[in-house]
Amino acid sequence: MKNFIENLPKAELHLHIEGSFEPKLMFEIAKRNNITIPYNSVEEIEEAYKFDCLQDFLDIYYQGAGVLINEQDFYDLTYSYLQKCASQNVRHTEIMFDPQTHTERGISFETVINGISKACDDAEEKLGVTSLLIMSYLRHLSEDDAFKTLKQSIPFKDKITAVGLDSSEKGNPPSKFKNVYEASVNEGYIPVAHAGEEGSADYVWEAIDILGIKRIDHGNNSLQDEKLVEEIVKRDMALTVCPLSNTALQVVDDLKNHPLKKMMDLGLKVTINSDDPAYFGGQVNKNYLEIQKALNLSKEEIYNLAKNSFQYSLLDTTKKQLYLNELEVYYTNNK
Ligand code: ADE
Ligand code: ZN
Repeated sequence: MKNFIENLPKAELHLHIEGSFEPKLMFEIAKRNNITIPYNSVEEIEEAYKFDCLQDFLDIYYQGAGVLINEQDFYDLTYSYLQKCASQNVRHTEIMFDPQTHTERGISFETVINGISKACDDAEEKLGVTSLLIMSYLRHLSEDDAFKTLKQSIPFKDKITAVGLDSSEKGNPPSKFKNVYEASVNEGYIPVAHAGEEGSADYVWEAIDILGIKRIDHGNNSLQDEKLVEEIVKRDMALTVCPLSNTALQVVDDLKNHPLKKMMDLGLKVTINSDDPAYFGGQVNKNYLEIQKALNLSKEEIYNLAKNSFQYSLLDTTKKQLYLNELEVYYTNNK
């Protein structure tokens, strides 16, 4: 099973580039930018990565992102993640980035997007990994602030596929971003959003009805509401589930109690993702491996999860089909 998962062609649909920032690279970049971080070693950093809830994690995550200053820093961060994709047979990835985390500190939008997108272009050419970018609005900030970000993004529209919504969920319902989502869709961005991670099923309803999202990030709490589950199935929307993130942030107490299998059995289209791999103890393959073990998933179920990852990606139909064919060949030869 380990080999089967490791060599399985797959896509990652829920990954925050700032959450892929490994401690070793963080030290390196902090040093070259003359920034002191409040840790003395990689071990000390890892020790600090123990979280009681989403906010606990976000405080440390924003602090870590504070060492990113130059275009090269964003390039190195992104390329380093894409190399991990290549080594895990992640053939395609949809990367979220949080412009406001950086523009709030005086870093220009251009610096951020150019560093990230150049790394994506190079990785496609040199590593054969394709990627799309999801610009995520920070929901603890105002809708006006999100509008500023949308405006800054316009000159770089050709590099960005979708908009997302992340950060502190409770108290910041999707409806707060109704107007900026409408404007983003008018600009041609595809809408997705985090919903139902810590927030209730009502937040998922808002995200699908008010923001019109095409895919739900996390969505665990959708299970609180039978009607909502039916609606998500009916609309054929996928959930980007992140098992190790869920245990690290105490959304789920133990992987053995993770609702993933229940979701699949209810007919929900589920995908497996790492969210913030540098903080939650594992890249995407580890997420597949651990959830497979915890829930005793079959090869067929793992194959279906990978299939969903391509099927519910934001790629065009032709590219999707190429990846699906590659997966089909792999499964036929390895089941
Ligand atoms: N930003 C990075 N990771 C996140 C998560 N799991 N939930 C909300 N916002 C995030
Ligand atoms: Zn996330």
